[in-house]
Amino acid sequence: MEFFLDTADVDEIREIASWGILDGVTTNPSLIKKSGRDFKTVVAEIASICDGPISAEVTALDTQGMVDQGRALKKELPENVIIKIPCTPEGLAATKILNSEGINTNVTLVFSAAQALMAAKAGATYVSPFIGRVDDTGSDGMTLIAEIMSTWENYDIKTKVLAASIRHPTHVLACMQLGAHTVTMPTKTFRQLMKHPLTDKGLEGFLKDWAEVEAAGNA
Ligand code: G3P
Repeated sequence: MEFFLDTADVDEIREIASWGILDGVTTNPSLIKKSGRDFKTVVAEIASICDGPISAEVTALDTQGMVDQGRALKKELPENVIIKIPCTPEGLAATKILNSEGINTNVTLVFSAAQALMAAKAGATYVSPFIGRVDDTGSDGMTLIAEIMSTWENYDIKTKVLAASIRHPTHVLACMQLGAHTVTMPTKTFRQLMKHPLTDKGLEGFLKDWAEVEAAGNA
């Protein structure tokens, strides 16, 4: 399974990348706004921190506009940047064209298994179902992931399922159990995945005892 960060905060990305297990980063216009920085500058910096796929989102609504933006981003930004495209009919057409040119894509704002399958048929490299936002509507986001994964089992689909809009570690664990290929999560969730009070307590006890071993001259 791939672990991505869902942020445009380069300090946070640097910190998590230093753990050695960061596989990629996703951004979107809202995360770029939150960073307060220039879009291309910040994406290029992220791409220099993490070798994995870095999603940069197009903002045009028409197919030609999306294709033009995607091609321009690929030209101006580092090799590992991939193009994030909304799951609309125009977005599907743009995905198909960019895929035929060897440009990797991430089809975003996916809220149904049917949308995910359509994006896969268009040749998307990744499809991004939004779990948390489905939960917000009173439905179950994990059911969406389960439906997509069971659909994937019926066909030889190369597109990776990238679970997005992750809100807590339980979302990540459930995605792992369902076999989602990738999860993208906020920094807070990444940290929570590594945190356990018994690890902290156990380490404290070992260090205390080791200090006594040293004091006794037995180290
Ligand atoms: O990258 C898009 C997605 O992860 C958004 O998450 O928390 O805004 O629903 P959220």
